Amino acid sequence: MKITRLGHATVLIEGSKTILIDPFITDNPKAARQIDEIPKIDYILVTHDHFDHFGEDALQIAKRDGSTLFAVHEVTVRDDVSQAGITAVGANIGGTYSEDGISFSITPAIHSAGGGTPSGFVIHLDGKNIYQSGDTALFSDMKLIPKLFGDIDVALLPIGGHYTMDEKGAALAVEYLNPKVTIPIHYDTWPPVEADTSLFAKQADSHTEVHILEPGQTYDC
Ligand code: NI
Ligand code: MN
Repeated sequence: MKITRLGHATVLIEGSKTILIDPFITDNPKAARQIDEIPKIDYILVTHDHFDHFGEDALQIAKRDGSTLFAVHEVTVRDDVSQAGITAVGANIGGTYSEDGISFSITPAIHSAGGGTPSGFVIHLDGKNIYQSGDTALFSDMKLIPKLFGDIDVALLPIGGHYTMDEKGAALAVEYLNPKVTIPIHYDTWPPVEADTSLFAKQADSHTEVHILEPGQTYDC
């Protein structure tokens, strides 16, 4: 399986299915690829409706590829989603959607949103558990996530601060989650979310293997 950080919180997962999380490409100053450089996507997962996670890019790719959009219910019943004529599956915090041997569970996030509750996901694909926390502050119930879903192979956690947890918060999250590998996201896109990746690595690396991915870089697992 290949996990590629396309910039900001946009992550491409390529295994037996392709998954794109929080596509933010067109207006992303750090986007590593343009939309036409992104492979055919089976599932688009959206953590919440802020512009740096959800917008026209998601709808455009879903229309192009016939992708299924998966998110908290309120995101999937927006007018622009309905009018796009795409397949959208909504669920809610604590729920799991399974299809074709792959499953997506929705986890809580402490954040805000225009509509619907902000969320994270545990993705089960090809025998691996990938946790994407979404934009969130640190919360101690993260320790329940591996208990509920099994060991986390890869955690994708924001470290940028200002809108989410920072390096220190994310390092504490790693203690709760115990993931084999952690890839930081949601940093260095704009000045307010500048982060010190080496500080995060130093604070987290006794609990996890930290992989820093510049936009466009891939981790093979
Ligand atoms: Ni947000
Ligand atoms: Mn954000």
